[in-house]
Amino acid sequence: MRAILCILTLLCLSACQPTRPVTQAPVPALIPLPVSVTPAAESFTLRDGDAIAAHGAAATEVARRFADLLAQTRGLRLREVDARAAVIEFVVDPTLAVAGAATPQALDEAYELRIDAHKIVLTARTPHGLFDGSMTLWQWLTAQTAKARAIRVPGVRIADYPRFAWRGLMLDSARHFQSPEFVKKFIAEMARHKLDVLHWHLTDDQGWRIQIKKYPELASIGAWRTPASLHGGAPRYGGLYTQDDIRDIVRYAAQRFVAIVPEIEMPGHAQAAIAAYPQFGVTGKRPAVSPDWGVHTYLYNVDDATFSFLEDVLGEVMDLFPGTYIHIGGDEAAKDQWQASAQVQQRMRELGVADANALQGYFTARIGKFLAAHGRRLIGWDEILEGGVPADATVMSWQGEAGGIAAAREGHDVVMAPSPLMYFDHVQSTLHDEPPGRPDVVSLADVYAYEPVPHALDEAQARHVLGAQANLWTEYMDTPQRVEHAAFPRAAALAEVLWSPPTRRDWQGFLARLPEQFARYRLFGIAYADSVFAPRVEALGAGASLRRNSDELRSCNPGGGLPLRLPGPALGGGEAVYRVDIFDPCWIYPQVDLDKLGAVDVVVAERPYNFQLWHDADKVVLRKPAAPGGELLVYRDACKGDALVRVPLAQAANIGGVAQLHVALPSDHGTHDLCFAFGRASVNPLWMIDTVQLQPR
Ligand code: ACM
Repeated sequence: MRAILCILTLLCLSACQPTRPVTQAPVPALIPLPVSVTPAAESFTLRDGDAIAAHGAAATEVARRFADLLAQTRGLRLREVDARAAVIEFVVDPTLAVAGAATPQALDEAYELRIDAHKIVLTARTPHGLFDGSMTLWQWLTAQTAKARAIRVPGVRIADYPRFAWRGLMLDSARHFQSPEFVKKFIAEMARHKLDVLHWHLTDDQGWRIQIKKYPELASIGAWRTPASLHGGAPRYGGLYTQDDIRDIVRYAAQRFVAIVPEIEMPGHAQAAIAAYPQFGVTGKRPAVSPDWGVHTYLYNVDDATFSFLEDVLGEVMDLFPGTYIHIGGDEAAKDQWQASAQVQQRMRELGVADANALQGYFTARIGKFLAAHGRRLIGWDEILEGGVPADATVMSWQGEAGGIAAAREGHDVVMAPSPLMYFDHVQSTLHDEPPGRPDVVSLADVYAYEPVPHALDEAQARHVLGAQANLWTEYMDTPQRVEHAAFPRAAALAEVLWSPPTRRDWQGFLARLPEQFARYRLFGIAYADSVFAPRVEALGAGASLRRNSDELRSCNPGGGLPLRLPGPALGGGEAVYRVDIFDPCWIYPQVDLDKLGAVDVVVAERPYNFQLWHDADKVVLRKPAAPGGELLVYRDACKGDALVRVPLAQAANIGGVAQLHVALPSDHGTHDLCFAFGRASVNPLWMIDTVQLQPR
């Protein structure tokens, strides 16, 4: 009976509704989803040579940019005409009322898009809103991406506005440098997602990337490093954005309503600057621009000459970047050098500051005052809270949500960028073909489920949350493709989190819209990640596979250590990715039947140990080798005690840093874990395991 009812219901659903034309154009997939989409019965056909009109200079510029984008992507050219005759009209109307748009950011960007059988009218309160709406219209016209002489789309009325004003991505151009062309491509893609803040990480220990005319050695010295290598000879690596490059990028971003927030790190993450101008460091010694990743100890000094230097730098930065916010970093300022310096200690007594954290507070306050005097606002990572922070400073919460919660409660504006969810250097899946990076997965679904307003905040405090951003730290993103792979489509999920009302969020609906989004990425050659749709093939049944790669082996410190997926040489040439705990490199092949095991073939590789671990350095485990040049160690059960076998690595080290070792094992009984580790006299080189293949007796 139930089945019959079901069938009847289905029949009725298709038969009892008003008939629709069978040629109805499919509803295009929009990301981020607008606040309200009301389909209309009719459809509209846009033809090559149709007319577009805009009212006023700002609207005309948005309309031209839209027409260019449409011509580039669909091959269909629009004619610009004066109002009436046009089939597309772009209008800025400051009195536009969009239902539900009440907050300043919602009002600023609210727009309405109407498409009926004869006309497309896009209206917004501001040019920014008009641009947002033009991106929605472009998506509406790119449900298919083939070039066309005519595009037929469903009629619709869209009313829309953003949930948050700060919809950001952070690009780290210090660890790896991206070309100005790439930065512009990245900005254009952000804009198509309605992401409107590019936080640009321009200075760090490993490179200074912005030309400062008063201090040319920031370019000639600070922008270049000698990469870590085991045997020397690595060519210098680096790059710099000239002031002309930056002006061009800022202009390009402004045309797409993307604000750029430049970050000049202080007082830590300053080694490249101090390599160029050691007099502004604490020790007076000149370090190298660092080839290492991690927490470094070079800090700026706190004397007046150093502040003059920083103010000169910020002066040139403010001339280049017209936006409100200047990011001064403030994170991971290891205070060892300040504590060890008699001069700094003397200065602290003169200033009456109690400790090193308070000295960072003095530092932040002094820079904040300078920025405020120039009409700008200071933003910094959440450590700026530790030593006291100017009342009008904005805090970027990265150490989870705690900094953001504390700051909002103190009345500071907050941008949420919590690790790990907003750290897009994490891999996106457990697939072995993920690129190098942090191995704890931040999947597309994880990002889509992110809620930027911490539950701990009350309504008034929550209003301090300006929005959120994801951070693209580029230690392991050494190519533009790797940056794009990390960014997209997770940035699409983030865009929907930050733009659309939470009640509209719908993971299945988002997934259904993704294939169209991917087709749009392909129009621009974006190397997006498709891991969310990748089939996963798993071997079923015991003994199905006797080979495990480093992602499939277990660490001997599950949940501990500092696991990374690192690039290294591949057997047979090219690059392979090795999962390794850089505190204690050890891998477990679980539950091996030793009665049947005769040998193991282990692919091992070496790479430079280029990590600065600060106080974590004492967590590094070194297992004593019996042979010079190190050994592969194989243990039964836990990774300690007497090794079953020790295999000298000198031979492997001599053949390009990667080798397959055939390791015969003594006869044994029972089912046991096998642990693989390395005996080494020092951290360098870092030996890693790619695969372990069991060879039955
Ligand atoms: C950071 O990840 N050190 C902000």
